Amino acid sequence: MSDGEVDLGRRRMLTAATVVTAGVGAAALAAPFVLSFKPSARAKAVGAPVKVDISKLELGGMLRVEWRGKPVYIVRRSAQALDTLQKVTPELFDPDSDQSDQPEYAKNATRSRDPELLVLLGVCTHLGCAPEFRPQVGSPGAANELVGFLCACHGSMFDIAGRVFKSMPAAANLEVPRYRSIAGGWLLIGADGGVS
Ligand code: FES
Repeated sequence: MSDGEVDLGRRRMLTAATVVTAGVGAAALAAPFVLSFKPSARAKAVGAPVKVDISKLELGGMLRVEWRGKPVYIVRRSAQALDTLQKVTPELFDPDSDQSDQPEYAKNATRSRDPELLVLLGVCTHLGCAPEFRPQVGSPGAANELVGFLCACHGSMFDIAGRVFKSMPAAANLEVPRYRSIAGGWLLIGADGGVS
């Protein structure tokens, strides 16, 4: 990717404006912001799984929760966003996630159990900043229609599956934690029925 393409991608990512809806352990909120949820001190101490209500997470929106002191991003991806995954594959550093951390069930084209639902640690694999969610879709026919995540610390860019682009400071995809769906439109972060 050339410097010009990177700059273009950043500019386009910085124009993002999708509503971010968040809610954890309670009804999700409709206002456009990220809610940071902190589990109880006891839960933090034991690193317990975190139960998240995703029933009101809108298409294109993101929840941000905390698990084991780290941010976890939960994104409900639109079909349009999912379409970008294949398009950007040639531009990615590790498109098949061979060198990246994720459970086996997330080592696939969408890095998820359910293609629509993305779960990632919001921790940049360069030096640990929290990448920003950039869910915009570019103008039709534009050269670089990116949706994904931008780490403002040193400019690493990730696609909407958390896969890092080539020639970025970060050299690994964003980590996928263990997780699983539970009844009632909830998600459990940090456990999947196997070893958590
Ligand atoms: S910490 Fe993200 S690019 Fe450096």
